[in-house]
Amino acid sequence: MQLSREEFTEKYGAHPDELKAIAEFAHRHGLAVKSSHPGRRHVVVEGTADQFSKAFGVSFKRYELPPAPRRKGMLVRRTTYRGRDGFIHVPRELSESIVGVFGLDNRPIGGRSNLPGDTPIAYPISVAQAAGLYNFPSPSASIGGQTIGIVSAASGSVGYVQSDLNQSYAAVGQTAPMVSAISPDGITNPAFAMNTTAAAAAGASTLTFGPSVSAGTYTSGTAIYGYMGTLYTLFITSVGTTTITFEAWDPATQTVVAGFVTPIPANTPVYFNVDGETTQDLAIAGLAAIGANLACYFIADTQPGWVDMIGRVLHPDPGDFPAGVNAPSVISSSYFISGGDDPDGLAAYGVTTSLMDAISQSFMDATILANGPTFCVASGDFGSNCGVGGAANQGFNNDICQSDKGRFNVGTPADFMTMGLHKSKDVNSNVLIGRDAMGLYALSSLCTHQCCDMNTTQGNQQVGTISATGIRCNCHISYYDNYGKPINTNQPAKQTLASYGLSLGCDGSIYVDTTKTVAATTRLMA
Ligand code: FES
Repeated sequence: MQLSREEFTEKYGAHPDELKAIAEFAHRHGLAVKSSHPGRRHVVVEGTADQFSKAFGVSFKRYELPPAPRRKGMLVRRTTYRGRDGFIHVPRELSESIVGVFGLDNRPIGGRSNLPGDTPIAYPISVAQAAGLYNFPSPSASIGGQTIGIVSAASGSVGYVQSDLNQSYAAVGQTAPMVSAISPDGITNPAFAMNTTAAAAAGASTLTFGPSVSAGTYTSGTAIYGYMGTLYTLFITSVGTTTITFEAWDPATQTVVAGFVTPIPANTPVYFNVDGETTQDLAIAGLAAIGANLACYFIADTQPGWVDMIGRVLHPDPGDFPAGVNAPSVISSSYFISGGDDPDGLAAYGVTTSLMDAISQSFMDATILANGPTFCVASGDFGSNCGVGGAANQGFNNDICQSDKGRFNVGTPADFMTMGLHKSKDVNSNVLIGRDAMGLYALSSLCTHQCCDMNTTQGNQQVGTISATGIRCNCHISYYDNYGKPINTNQPAKQTLASYGLSLGCDGSIYVDTTKTVAATTRLMA
């Protein structure tokens, strides 16, 4: 049975006596209770580092992360954090009530897939095409009652500009919903737009905004996306009272240059957003479910950031949504919390097991609450090159490049009379057919690096080049010999291509069975 938020709080929320005991513990150590929420089962306390140190028996130090190299369009992460040393102690009588203590350290956790974009052979498709490929149902008449929540876990450095979303929707003849921006810990949407107030010549590097640029929060050294007509990326180098000086990314030469590549007229809108991730997430989710409302949760990439966000999703604050807009029925995050859920994996990402306990309990709460949301947390949307599994994919962990095509006709013996490897006659077959002195054999055409199908062409490009001496995978350049063995030790593909069995059908055609692999020495005498 699913419960209203009131019923949930009554049945599963923190008991008033527990909240009182925790408040008394905080007060004994001089900590102030900032808020407490029985439904979320959260108590937020504030005080000095010394007070927290004494209350929980820990010590603090400041740590520094290695500086992240600046890359085009990449998030510039902060490099220092407050770290906690020692086990966290709580009074014995409270130990049954407390699942976790979060925020004693504020190290960044989690992240997102940090791989360099699309595979060389990848072609964009529209959101509508992707939705069709995944058999997304068409939005029903009740879609307006649904809200999709997007998480921007970037400590307020990645945001969206509503006009970008408006343009994305307008491109398919739709009207974008006004996004509800929600700030569980006071982190707000950092993205904004300003119009230039004076022209700048090509080669200049300073833009003028008036009367003041103080509306922005950016400081010297922060990387910024600036979109002006065609897309140009700008990097702030200094900020004046009414001016900002930039370096520019020249898309023609793919280099950072000192001055603007084109003249910039007065009244040109410049969009300040270090990264398109949140805009992309909102646009894709929204356009896959046109008519749904959108919400965006801006959070710190820290343990309390995630805890507070999930609590706020399950138990919204009054005013989080305008009248007539419901709380999210689904939450989607392209930022992940940890790269592994075993103790070593968690530790590597700065995640404690108590955070996992707290999140697991919250997810269970979501199943009990009426209209409780589904949480989807993924990674890998830096283009289609997620670094594992399929040729062009979105974070699927498909470690083995295996055909799923079953048994099918690949041609006749006459099609493969010459020695060496041949493409299958069926370009969608995922197999290559070889002939040597022993007979015919079949190899998987899926490159063992990231499963590019070397039997196919994409656009006017050959995915695989088949020659007398073997195969070249053009996705990231790997070579195989005629029997599917990788040739170079330093190439991306390391494993031998799978071998499949061939048989001769009554119709004189050759059939391959891709449901199981066979020994590489298997031959069809035909
Ligand atoms: S898929 Fe990367 S080299 Fe073939």
